[in-house]
Amino acid sequence: MCTQQVILDSTLRSSQTLEFEEALRAKIVSQEEALQAMVDLYQVFSASLNPPGRPVGSLLFLGPTGCGKTRVVEAAAEILFGDSQAVIKVNCGEFQHSHEISKLIGSPPGYLGHRETHPMITQEALAASHTDKLKLSFLLFDEIEKANDALWQLLLGMLDKATLTLGDNRRVDLSQTVIFMTSNLGKDKPTTGLDEKVERTAMEAARRTFSPEFMNRLDKLVVFHSLSPEQLEKVLQIELNQVQRRVLETDKRRFLFHVTDAGRQFILQEGSDRRYGARHLKRAIDRHVISPLANLLATEQVKMGDTLCIDWDTRVGRLVFWKESPEAAAVLNVSKRTPSQLQVAGTAGGRNAEIPSPARARGVGNNK
Ligand SMILES: Nc1ncnc2c1ncn2[C@@H]1O[C@H](COP(=O)(O)OP(=O)(O)O)[C@@H](O)[C@H]1O
Ligand SMILES: [Mg+2]
Repeated sequence: MCTQQVILDSTLRSSQTLEFEEALRAKIVSQEEALQAMVDLYQVFSASLNPPGRPVGSLLFLGPTGCGKTRVVEAAAEILFGDSQAVIKVNCGEFQHSHEISKLIGSPPGYLGHRETHPMITQEALAASHTDKLKLSFLLFDEIEKANDALWQLLLGMLDKATLTLGDNRRVDLSQTVIFMTSNLGKDKPTTGLDEKVERTAMEAARRTFSPEFMNRLDKLVVFHSLSPEQLEKVLQIELNQVQRRVLETDKRRFLFHVTDAGRQFILQEGSDRRYGARHLKRAIDRHVISPLANLLATEQVKMGDTLCIDWDTRVGRLVFWKESPEAAAVLNVSKRTPSQLQVAGTAGGRNAEIPSPARARGVGNNK
């Protein structure tokens, strides 16, 4: 009998997975390996091929501070569960002493304070992220190199059997849970150079630090790379777009803003560096963009439909906020605390040195 062979394409992703990948790429800059690991995991889970009796996945993210290890997990939670905080986050640095484990799993009945301790990892807490379509949970152990022995034992048990026994003997099923772990291992060493070399160094550091027992239980180890200035700029753009979205979601006085190249360079300088990556970027945006914008809104200097420009003014050594007004460019006073009149600029030979000339209003960069 002659049968016909049909060649199948095993690299084809479902449209749902492709959507997930696209959404993740919109939120995460670089870190290709991590993106692929997340997408693979999602595809395997969607096809129900994750191994029974084990967590859906166990991934260790290695790399320097502020390069997106935690953000990848939060971004995936945002996409899948609609909330970046739908992750149970265990900061291992807070569990330096063995007795602190009760914060995670509660204390046994009869112990002093038993009733007051509310364990962090419970079946209910895990189920909180479930949606009608997706019964999945994320559990994140941040900076595991800081974990004490008791926490390690707990973690090993979870990775192995996908169950956790609480202080009061209740069992938590982790078979619908992805366990993420992050570590800043090797952060003191410069992580520049060839990607392969960076990866090898990080893997070696992990093997030296963590027991083979632990390493063997991991599904995947992903090395994150420090972000280049261009990549940090992309991160800034993503963050600024988020601020813009928030502004457009406010009830009133929705407006657009754009930050010039010089303005962006200033914020980048304030919020990022080689040692901390993009870690302080949000803080710099809070201080130099959100807080002044809030002042402008509160003092009614901005109206619905306005377009603001945020620019770096070398003459005054700070960011200036201005908008086009029908008469001329208007500089906004971000430090005003009461409703105030706009300072109208553009008069020839104007005396206010802080007022940028309308010519600078043209050709400024925008939030692409
Ligand atoms: N690769 C990246 N893509 C997008 N945002 C990033 C990236 N790396 C860092 N960030 C930004 O910097 C912040 C700190 O990054 P985070 O993931 O917490 O660092 P860590 O690697 O130390 O866990 C994030 O909240 C995010 O705003
Ligand atoms: Mg982190």
